Amino acid sequence: MEMNSIHNDKEDENDNLIPRYNVLKFNFSDEEKFILEELRENLIDLAISEKMSSFNEELILKDIIRFLENRLQNRFDYDYKENLARNMLKELIGYGELSALIEDDNLEEIMVIGINKPVFVYHRKYGMMETDLFFEDEGKITNIIDSIARETNRRIDQQSPILDARLSNGSRVNATIPPLSANGPTITIRKFKKEPLTIVDLIRYNTLNTEMASFLWLCVDGLGVKPANIIVSGGTSSGKTTLLNALSIFINPMERIITIEDTLELQIPHNHIIRMEARTVNIENQGEITIEDLVKNALRQRPDRIIVGEVRGNEAITLFTALNTGHSGFGTLHANNSRETITRLTNAPMNVPKIMVSSIDFIIMEKRIYRSDGISYRRITEIAEVTGMEEGTIQLSKLFQWDSERDEFKNLTIVSKTLEEMANLKGVHISKLNEEWKKRQVVLNYLVKNNISSQKDISKILETYYLNSDYVLNKIGVGLD
Ligand SMILES: Nc1ncnc2c1ncn2[C@@H]1O[C@H](COP(=O)(O)OP(=O)(O)OP(=O)(O)O)[C@@H](O)[C@H]1O
Ligand SMILES: [Mg+2]
Repeated sequence: MEMNSIHNDKEDENDNLIPRYNVLKFNFSDEEKFILEELRENLIDLAISEKMSSFNEELILKDIIRFLENRLQNRFDYDYKENLARNMLKELIGYGELSALIEDDNLEEIMVIGINKPVFVYHRKYGMMETDLFFEDEGKITNIIDSIARETNRRIDQQSPILDARLSNGSRVNATIPPLSANGPTITIRKFKKEPLTIVDLIRYNTLNTEMASFLWLCVDGLGVKPANIIVSGGTSSGKTTLLNALSIFINPMERIITIEDTLELQIPHNHIIRMEARTVNIENQGEITIEDLVKNALRQRPDRIIVGEVRGNEAITLFTALNTGHSGFGTLHANNSRETITRLTNAPMNVPKIMVSSIDFIIMEKRIYRSDGISYRRITEIAEVTGMEEGTIQLSKLFQWDSERDEFKNLTIVSKTLEEMANLKGVHISKLNEEWKKRQVVLNYLVKNNISSQKDISKILETYYLNSDYVLNKIGVGLD
């Protein structure tokens, strides 16, 4: 396959500060452009007559080839026409000129910021890059937005000028149209990694260390007596959803899980899982199902664990009611530190009573840190435990903290209340749990060292560990006493 190219060398002094990403484009001749516009109009008629239901790509491709044979007669050979038809189809129902970017798995984000401005991409390795792709007219961007709206059965128009949707490949899209966005329509695509990052990947990236990860494993699993409630908190794109997903691998395979999201992002490897997705109003302005509706419904489905992708509105109270009545839960929340996380939860629009908020066991803060060369990395900056309430204030104690200067994590050696409770419920001494913590750290170290990082492989080892931990530890070959 032909590839897009990257210009990352800064040798040329005329080079931009920001590295270049050149998109491999198909150049249509003027005549072909004309035919393309005609086809576009036909397709819109077809879309309206079919009530915008999904298209059959193969059939449309055949139609386009027939159309081209008619128009171009025998001026070109069949292969040329077929290739042309495929490229036209991409323009028409795919994501147009963005298709080549969407297909590149190295990109984390694709950003269209208006007309006559370069499209930017965020590369997993090189950070922010400027592409050589420009949109000169608004119509071309709007066409892409419309085709995304059509594909996802949502609407975008003057009445609701914001589109939030998920593409069939899992990527998340936000689009806005003027006058909301002053320089023309915008599109922001958060690309979806086909294989999600796992806890082992995150340790390898130094987002957290194995001591923290094994502690979280112990608490998420809860030894069958006290599975922890956890809020992952941080700024935009700090990696909250990814971390939540990675931690979910520690949920005991015996549990029944229900996940609730605006757009399906979580990819949790468990078998016994129900995935729910909220729905915005359809083209007729009906049929909205909110996150809150889904949380309420989940309570009737006897879940052990409820995972809410992003907590931000009315659903918070319902979720916390669940947490206060014996279910356990996870969620992400947008905030800059653990104190602010509590403030956000207890104030409008969430308004969760403080006494209910204290059902959270841990707040994990994550941060995206930008280096001066534009490349970013993610760190868990703190793991705070909610220890209760005193004089109307929720008490937090920090267990782990990231030292930004040394880029190291510190265990603040405060005894975890959650571990103490687990020991009590199990009727064992806390030292037993500390031993278990160490054992799990050995397992994770082994996975990291041997780069056993796929969800499938990790799950397999965890399941074996639950069945017979000594067997796994022996296999790893570390003599623990
Ligand atoms: N620890 C990490 N190291 C490297 N890349 C990461 C890490 N965590 C997440 N990413 C990447 O960063 C991007 C954003 O991650 P994610 O969606 O988890 O962030 P988020 O905080 O949930 O964002 P939002 O605020 O939009 O909900 C994804 O492309 C993901 O693959
Ligand atoms: Mg998220």
